Amino acid sequence: MRTLIELTVNGQPYPIDVEGRTRLLDALREKCFLTGAKEGCSTGDCGACTVLLDGQPVTSCLVLASSAAGKEITTIEGVSAGEVLHPVQQAFMSAGGLQCGICTPGMILTSIALLNENRNPTRDQIRFGLQGNLCRCTGYGKIVDAVEVAAKDMATRENGHHMEVKTEPDTNPAMAGPAQADATGGQAPGEKGR
Ligand code: FES
Ligand code: FES
Repeated sequence: MRTLIELTVNGQPYPIDVEGRTRLLDALREKCFLTGAKEGCSTGDCGACTVLLDGQPVTSCLVLASSAAGKEITTIEGVSAGEVLHPVQQAFMSAGGLQCGICTPGMILTSIALLNENRNPTRDQIRFGLQGNLCRCTGYGKIVDAVEVAAKDMATRENGHHMEVKTEPDTNPAMAGPAQADATGGQAPGEKGR
């Protein structure tokens, strides 16, 4: 029997009809036309089909589409900010952490979840975190390198942000001269008017 469900994928609603046994992997690829998640083993062993469900990596070949309704699903298509790659995507490219690319979407999503929980993992922790994602091409060394590069990049961006916050001019109106108050119009630098 077919049922209408709504999946939320990368922040977008996808009303789709599925059968009770439809796998999340098939719903994403065939109903939502998001083909980033790959099918390798179909048995939960390779990790090629990994997506994030409420921020946690899952093998979408073992998840029923209907059980993912009402949860936040993130696929590889949703991790970049428009044309700007996510730091983990960028690091996989710069460190050479991919070859054929079949494992790469799952590797990247699992790495993002790993770094969200541990911003400074050791190489052993990276290998442990990625143990459910298999790669036939790279030998894993460069994948671990990539996650290390991404961790450093993310830390640098966060530290830079903190420094920016520290060095921002005092926005207390009591401390701002009239010229400064007029020039900013009360908005933070870079903020767009509404
Ligand atoms: S295709 Fe899902 S884990 Fe291999
Ligand atoms: S790059 Fe080919 S399987 Fe990993």
